Amino acid sequence: MQTYISLAQIDEIAQNIKSRISIQPVVGIILGSGLNGLADSIREAVHIPYSDLPNFPVSTVHGHVGRFVIGELEGRPVLVMQGRIHYYEGYTMGEVTLPVRVMQRMGIPSMIVTNAAGGVHPEFEPGDVMLITDQLNLMGMSGLNPLMGPNLDEIGPRFPDMSQPYDRVYCDLARGVAKENGITLREGVYAGLSGPSFESPADLRFLRNAGADAVGMSTVPEVIIARHGNMRVLGLSGISNKANLDGSTITTHEEVIEAGRVITPKVEKIIRGVLRGL
Ligand code: HPA
Repeated sequence: MQTYISLAQIDEIAQNIKSRISIQPVVGIILGSGLNGLADSIREAVHIPYSDLPNFPVSTVHGHVGRFVIGELEGRPVLVMQGRIHYYEGYTMGEVTLPVRVMQRMGIPSMIVTNAAGGVHPEFEPGDVMLITDQLNLMGMSGLNPLMGPNLDEIGPRFPDMSQPYDRVYCDLARGVAKENGITLREGVYAGLSGPSFESPADLRFLRNAGADAVGMSTVPEVIIARHGNMRVLGLSGISNKANLDGSTITTHEEVIEAGRVITPKVEKIIRGVLRGL
């Protein structure tokens, strides 16, 4: 029998973080694979390793640092997750999404979520940035919804609406910032799979036919939890590799991390611009 994370456990972590900082973050930012560099730009930063926090899962993936960085970016108080926790590491969905619950109990109203993703849209190239306009909850469709178990009524309803997972106003803001900075911003649907194996050519043809433009191993559970608590969400995917629909190339974690070097400056510009516009 799976045990579920209680409000008391979430609050213990939220209080622990609050006791170490003197600002109230207004945006939570989750950095994906290869995008960790962004946290180095945070001013007046307080660093809290996940391993310092009670009952907090620790990321085991190469390329993920594993700490909160709290400070200012573009004059806005932010809480950044440098490294996230994935379902494929063996954690429960509750643990994977615990950081978002902590943001909610800290009173953070908005979240910017980033990830590395495979480009399923035929025109997407490695190094592109995609604004996530909607998501395919393939993990949830196979029984892995992070909201399973007792509902946390203090945070949100048993059956939350999911008609606007990604905030339309934030999407418009990001489009404007990309334009101002001469960044080509792709747009599309992110499909969330559990991983850790990459997709077979047949998986990828299935995903394309189902309406996916990008595919990855994160984000969807975190966004469901964020929306359960009515947080407003902006999502950005860094396209690290092209989907291999005919099996002619292979995908490696190294190329995912390498593409992050091209993608990070673009994502950073967009996030900075969006923060200024909030
Ligand atoms: N598939 C799934 N997840 C990913 C990929 C991919 O091709 N690239 C980066 N994360």
